[in-house]
Amino acid sequence: MEAKIKQEFNKRFNGEQGTLYASAGRINLIGEHTDYNGGFVFPGAIDKVIMAEIAPNGTDKVRVFSIDINEYAEFGLKESDAPEQQWARYIFGVCREILKRGGSVKGFDAVFAGNVPLGAGLSSSAALESCFAFALNDMFNGNTIDKFELAKIGQSTEHNYCGVNCGIMDQFASVFGKKDHLMRLDCRSMEYEYFPFKIDGYKLVLVDSKVKHALVDSPYNKRRQSCERVAAKLGIETLRDATKEALDAVRGEISAEDYFRAKFVIEEKDRVLAVCDALEKGDCETVGQKMYETHAGLSKDYEVSCEELDYLNDVAKECGVTGSRIMGGGFGGCTINLVKDDLYDNFITTVTRKFAEKYGHEPVIYPVVISDGARRVEE
Ligand code: GLA
Repeated sequence: MEAKIKQEFNKRFNGEQGTLYASAGRINLIGEHTDYNGGFVFPGAIDKVIMAEIAPNGTDKVRVFSIDINEYAEFGLKESDAPEQQWARYIFGVCREILKRGGSVKGFDAVFAGNVPLGAGLSSSAALESCFAFALNDMFNGNTIDKFELAKIGQSTEHNYCGVNCGIMDQFASVFGKKDHLMRLDCRSMEYEYFPFKIDGYKLVLVDSKVKHALVDSPYNKRRQSCERVAAKLGIETLRDATKEALDAVRGEISAEDYFRAKFVIEEKDRVLAVCDALEKGDCETVGQKMYETHAGLSKDYEVSCEELDYLNDVAKECGVTGSRIMGGGFGGCTINLVKDDLYDNFITTVTRKFAEKYGHEPVIYPVVISDGARRVEE
């Protein structure tokens, strides 16, 4: 990917040379739809990245080419200069959010490519935002913007330029990711802790249903609104501070739908803490059991699953997989699976065959490798 980017950059920008930056997609072991509720998440960056070569061009224009989409975009840095192409809006948004915070961004040339699968729930958009936020901080701001602010710049880009009212998990994971470590983030206090990720005798693997999800204009924003309505009803800022008893007390005054959304969030919050404890004790059975509970909650109460993902979960169960669940925003994408080494090969063969028989295409298998987040690839 590096060579391809360099070659394209050289060709497009008259033999110029820039600096290479990268940022990663993410997995999340547990803690779904909890970030925007002030709860806990437990993600890690993965070995799938968006990589960009970037160089200042001495103008007030951004000129950028996406190798994977095979499209070129050119835009200015004023609010009224927003480009048409959705992919370019991620980059434009990052520039604007840096400028709004008093940071500096000048014209630059860029070529980028990636191997984070799109729409699979691995946060390709956060990887793109974090790659450019990190690069523009390095290039134009002497790295004076701190890492949390870089994550927030990505999140605000989603809110203000892409129509997704997301939480902070994906951008946090992409910026803060560390090889062989998961991170437990408290999305209320923003305190975080690195957990060495070692699961001897087990593997983590993603099974991608290839059902595409688009969070823009999706029910994702509606889920968030449900949670906010219930929090307002309970007189608290976020559902992080809600209890099941308090929720039950207002059950008659809220819609059944809102009730089950909030119930899931309250239960999920505790599951993250239980999984972190279990992982520290090397108790993968408990981790797995909690993952299945999360899947059931996401499917029945939060209703962000789909037939294909529920089927993947059923097959995992049949194959004796320790834990399996939908990962990310939902409505398609991947399941994340915790599998004993000796059951791994059989699970992969069986799930591939059965899924293809039922849905006419094979799922894509991604073994998980926990890796570093945003970085400069070379000096
Ligand atoms: C998407 C959002 C995140 C988070 C997850 C669900 O990935 O971008 O902020 O809410 O969904 O956990």
